Amino acid sequence: MKILVAGGGGREHAIVSALCRNSAVELYSVMGKKNPGIAKLAKEVFHAETDVEAVVDFAKKHNIKYAVIGPEAPLQAGLADALWEVGIGCVGPKKMAARIETDKGFCRELMQKHGIAGCPGYKICKTPEEAAEYIKSYEGELAVKPTGLTGGKGVKVMGEQVDRDGAVEYALTLKDQEIILEERLLGEEFTLMAFTDGKTLVPMPLVQDHKRAFEGDVGPNTGGMGSYSLESHKFPFVSDADYDAAFTIMNETVAALAAEGCPYQGILYGQFMNTRDGPKVIEFNARFGDPEAMNVLTILSSDFSVIAEHIAEGCLTADDVSFAPKATVCKYIVPAGYPDAPHAGDPITTGAADNTVLYYANVIENESGMLETITSRTMAYVGVGDSLEEAERYAEAACKNVSGNIRYRSDIGTAALFAKRISHMDELRK
Ligand code: AMP
Ligand code: GLY
Repeated sequence: MKILVAGGGGREHAIVSALCRNSAVELYSVMGKKNPGIAKLAKEVFHAETDVEAVVDFAKKHNIKYAVIGPEAPLQAGLADALWEVGIGCVGPKKMAARIETDKGFCRELMQKHGIAGCPGYKICKTPEEAAEYIKSYEGELAVKPTGLTGGKGVKVMGEQVDRDGAVEYALTLKDQEIILEERLLGEEFTLMAFTDGKTLVPMPLVQDHKRAFEGDVGPNTGGMGSYSLESHKFPFVSDADYDAAFTIMNETVAALAAEGCPYQGILYGQFMNTRDGPKVIEFNARFGDPEAMNVLTILSSDFSVIAEHIAEGCLTADDVSFAPKATVCKYIVPAGYPDAPHAGDPITTGAADNTVLYYANVIENESGMLETITSRTMAYVGVGDSLEEAERYAEAACKNVSGNIRYRSDIGTAALFAKRISHMDELRK
């Protein structure tokens, strides 16, 4: 079966690796820069970013049957719409349905209109001045975000990155775009992703990402420095009732999109804040999370090509999906200075990496076969074990063996950080 994967990051390397576990899959790739991991597995690579027409021509030329679209940019550009038009089934929603991620105002209005639980208080502002006035007059704390895509780096939360004056100042910099102000949510974050054919949702293991750049969850937000999941596929700080509430929110969101004439086929990513009143939606993404995809796809024990086919054909069932009962810890290696002043072009060498899987992201292989950093997240190790402790130990050992002008967060998946998450939730619930 010929499958096209769009995108060239760590997430897409994990997607391609999972698809290629079925030897009957002939993998075609479209990506901007060459990801050496994907290039090794692909039958042919076409270098393009979001040039929809060129990608469709490439797909037609190779008689592609299905496409899996990794990043949000091609979804926003309408790649799924264009591929469906020429008869290629997609894992990844059409442009109108992808607004659940690409337009945060649309997302909140959809939740409110359809009475979906978990929507924080919000206000959509047409101008920076309107936002600034609202922030000044609001009693509590707010999160300030542009409504469009920002690569996970456009959010400033009062009480975290900024005070009230800082929030006003930030809002005033957001010119020529809509701004959304949201009630600040307090709690523990978790990611719940689901496969969906537009009707049935099948959940993946819960994952927790680490957005902050530095150890101890400090510093600027990043695309995500690493993530972990447990062998139970759940978290002790997410009760069964919280889990059910979150999954119901996801199901109702897909149903609401269908009711609005925007059927949703692909991966729905729910980022939740588990508050003392249960899970609230921080945001939805219209795709796998990066790094979260690496956690879950590494332990996907059923055939991803069958899941992709059933998503596109509208016949997905829970029986299509199974995951190994393993814990995973993913740690991203990033260039020194990331995210504010990342240093590119530095050579890196890797060493022993037992019981881990390596996914390449923004890294190039130079003419002599040496890896070199670019300006974004470089590559990630996913440790897989029977427990979190074991998975963390493997991931950490592999990262320690990387040399070069890089860094990573050594605390991700550690017992100490995990205990902090649990006691934070216990405190909130007191
Ligand atoms: P996003 O780009 O929407 O994923 O937001 C990045 C990070 O900002 C999230 O991981 C949260 O930690 C934080 N954040 C976003 N919205 C809120 C909110 N309403 N309340 C508290 N924190 C938020
Ligand atoms: N890990 C967060 C994201 O993919 O947006």
